[in-house]
Amino acid sequence: MDKFYISTAIAYTSAKPHIGNTYEIVLADSIARFKRLKGYDVYFQTGTDEHGEKIQIKANEKGCTPQEYVDDIASQIKNIWDIMNTSYDRFVRTTDEKHMEVVQRIFKKMYDKGDIYLGKYEGNYCTPCESFFTDAQLVDGKCPDCGRPVEKKSEEAYFFRLSKYQDKLVEFIENNPEFIQPVARKNEMMNNFIKVGLQDLCVSRTSFDWGIPVDFNPKHVVYVWLDALTNYITNIGYDVDNQSEEFKKYWPADLHLVGKDIIRFHTIYWPAFLMSLDIPLPKKVFGHPWLLMDNDKMSKSKGNVMYADDLVKEYGVDAVRYYVLSKIPFQNDGNITHELLTETINSELANVLGNLVNRTISMAKKYFDGKVTNTKISEDVDIELIRMVNELDKNVTEKMDELHIGEAIEAIFEVLKRSNKYIDETTPWVLAKSENKDRLETVLFNLLESIRVCAVFLQPYIPETSDKIMEQLNIEDKSFGFNENNQYNVNDPHPLFLRIEKK
Ligand code: MSP
Repeated sequence: MDKFYISTAIAYTSAKPHIGNTYEIVLADSIARFKRLKGYDVYFQTGTDEHGEKIQIKANEKGCTPQEYVDDIASQIKNIWDIMNTSYDRFVRTTDEKHMEVVQRIFKKMYDKGDIYLGKYEGNYCTPCESFFTDAQLVDGKCPDCGRPVEKKSEEAYFFRLSKYQDKLVEFIENNPEFIQPVARKNEMMNNFIKVGLQDLCVSRTSFDWGIPVDFNPKHVVYVWLDALTNYITNIGYDVDNQSEEFKKYWPADLHLVGKDIIRFHTIYWPAFLMSLDIPLPKKVFGHPWLLMDNDKMSKSKGNVMYADDLVKEYGVDAVRYYVLSKIPFQNDGNITHELLTETINSELANVLGNLVNRTISMAKKYFDGKVTNTKISEDVDIELIRMVNELDKNVTEKMDELHIGEAIEAIFEVLKRSNKYIDETTPWVLAKSENKDRLETVLFNLLESIRVCAVFLQPYIPETSDKIMEQLNIEDKSFGFNENNQYNVNDPHPLFLRIEKK
């Protein structure tokens, strides 16, 4: 069985995550579920990034210890991941003792190898981003990442020889054109960061202590990104001179899923750290676009932040999953508002999917007491529907392999729409009056099979709904194509999605 290791970024435990951060875990979940459906041995890892000055400051403000602070937020994050019905295999935390010990040994190994050395840092420091910048990197004298003011700082620090890995990195990225997705981001990394020359990276801090201490010089704590990035290996049993069976089985990761703002860390720093440790590089890093609220960046100060748990209470988990998965493009930022959510639920989930299932199951009940087999009284109009059902596997798989999740869902909805049209074309209620019961049974059979195959492929995106459909169809068969030998004995219909009245 082929393995598939997928990870999300680990979320900062500075505040409760909004729907934008939550989008990432749902996106990863849809890919993990799809791979499992396709028979892969999937390992899906997510978790929290818990060290750093920002957290220490927040804990002080709240009057608790940093550990108490991160325990609280980490449990809120895990709770939201669970509310979203995400099927991660492991939820990791950078305050786990095992992770911290291995990070210390990794730091020491790099130091012993000469890849980390002690120096002095003088530069412009951005506290929220916990990063130093040279004068040239500043934008209008402010932090190039977040735009906030920076302050001059000078401190003794350890540096990682990033410059040493520049040529190897260029070679790797050029030889592996699929490594950075979307490809436009690869050019951005190469031209704006790597080719202009990589500076050695400051990898320790002395100005605060909420971090992993450098064990051979404990006034330093390990830079939060070196700590955080290694989560991908420490939690599957990597250690500097001893690797677990799990590590040997799952590493290298097949896909690191991260937001567009942190691609740089995953395609420059992380590969260089791995090269220093003589570990193979991950196969792919996908920098997904962002979710905007009414076309604006979500922020607490603007008061436009949406939270997944509130949305789920209002619309249901599958409606929220469906929205973010189908409406956020592969490359460009997506948008969310209550109006757009309502519109999508009404027109796609209630009208296209819900109606089709409800109408078909109701007719199977009404005309055949739920028992429908393939009477094979075929007509030309059946051909296109059956062809589309049989092509679904190929179409969805292709789109998923390209990480075009929205288009994979669209392919399923094309079949659902075609099925609704098929009802209009075949007019089962007219057939029911015409004594042409065998033709009517074939028509309903074709519809039930189409719904079954769509339900199988909907599982990664809207798993609860997929289960509900299978339950109403009352069938075990989860095969990927039209199965003319199935025999149905459907259960009572229950509406899947109710239309929402516009406020
Ligand atoms: N802790 C770092 C990641 C370390 S990975 C070794 C971090 N955390 S975060 O909490 O700020 O972000 C978590 C993820 O959410 C990141 O991949 C980030 O890009 C993503 N997003 C943050 N805001 C987002 C949106 N508005 N929309 C979509 N994704 C968003 O970065």
